[in-house]
Formats: sequence, structure tokens, C-alpha cells
Amino acid sequence: MVHNILAPSILAADCADLGSQIKTVEAEGVEYIHIDVMDGVFVPSLSFGIPVVSSVRKITDLTLDVHLMIIHPLKYVQAFAEAGADSITFHLESEDDPDAVIDAIREAGCKVGISIKPGTPVEDVYPYLDKVDMVLIMTVEPGFGGQLYIPASTAKIAQARYYIDSNELQTKIQVDGGITEETARTVIEVGASVIVAGSAIFHGDVADNARRYVDLLSKTKPGEVL
Ligand code: DX5
Ligand code: ZN
Repeated sequence: MVHNILAPSILAADCADLGSQIKTVEAEGVEYIHIDVMDGVFVPSLSFGIPVVSSVRKITDLTLDVHLMIIHPLKYVQAFAEAGADSITFHLESEDDPDAVIDAIREAGCKVGISIKPGTPVEDVYPYLDKVDMVLIMTVEPGFGGQLYIPASTAKIAQARYYIDSNELQTKIQVDGGITEETARTVIEVGASVIVAGSAIFHGDVADNARRYVDLLSKTKPGEVL
């Protein structure tokens, strides 16, 4: 059955205990691990790089969903693919030519994602939607975990869903930032199916959080709410 997918963001995990936290969410039926890469230029903060992807790859077969918040994605696509990324998402607002980045990710053998920040209109990404596997609509300003969902995102997700369906595309819609059980329901209802959650999973009881969200998402089809 086609269902919604939870992608826990390890940005909110305890890095000293990363392996066991990943094993904990894996045991609860999670399918994706979301890895946020920041360069201190595209976004103000710094986070993980290639060695973290390699280490995580060694301990799990889950889909490694790498989100590049970096100014020059083209330069690093190959390295992230070799480190074990399954899917690589870059930002439309980065400085590289989107078509060149898409081709490089495909040639490296990974699924392709393209992302837009809250201030970027959905229309800007339309020309690329038939060439990518996933569009990531940021629901907070990229750069930090623990922010509140931006309500204007809901209309953008609905608009992307309408465009994808009207053009009979298979592109998945991913959302990232400020996900709670309430906002998860909202984004699913308007058409997102891959849901990134950081604080909601890794703060507090990780197993219990993952169980509740996997339950919520695996029981709902894309577009359906419990
Ligand atoms: C923010 C990152 C997110 C972040 C989400 O720039 O892309 O993946 O970890 O964190 P929460 O779920 O806490 O908003
Ligand atoms: Zn992210």
C-alpha cells in the first residue's frame, strides 16, 4: 500500500549516541533517515558533512535522504553519493545550475530532490518537477531545527500537489520544519507524503515518538487524514 513516509532528521539527535538513536527509530519501522548538511554560507549554521553520511551508512540499510543546504551542491554530489546517500536534495536557490545538479545526482546513481525556501514561489520549481523524484517544500527557514511551522506553507504544498496531479507527474512532495502531530496532519491533507521531523522524534522518548509518528503516517495514504 502507498503510505506516507516519516524521515527523522538527525539534526535533533544526540550525536554522541547517534548510532543507537538511529537503531531505535529503525526498530519502530522508520524508512528514511534525513541528514541535514549546512555550509555556514547558504544558511548561517554548520552541521554534518560527508564522514557522518559514511558512518551512518555502515550501520543501517534505511534510505539516507541527504538535504544539502549548501551554496555549491555540484561540487559535492559525487562525494555524498560515494559516502552512501540514496537520495540527494539540493536547493533551487543555490548558485549552481539546477539542470546540471539534477544530472550529476542522477549520474551518481541517487534519487533527486529539489528544495525551495519559504520565500520562493512554488512556480519557480515547476520547470524541474518532471526531472526530479521529490520536491522539498521548506516549512521553516532552513538552518535550524526547533522552529515553528510557517502557516503560509500549506497553500504552497496544495499548489504543488495540484500542479503535479494536473500534469500526471509522480514527483513526491516532502516537507521539512516545524512538524508536530497537528502540522503533520495538515501537510498530509494537502498533499505532502514524505514528512521530515527532527525535534518531534529525537527530543524526549525517541522510541515512543517514532512509534506514534510511524503509526500516524503508515495508517494514512497520501492525501488522507485520520
Ligand atoms: C532545518 C532542517 C530540518 C530540521 C527540522 O533547516 O532542514 O531538517 O532538522 O527540525 P524540526 O523538525 O525540529 O523543525
Ligand atoms: Zn532538512
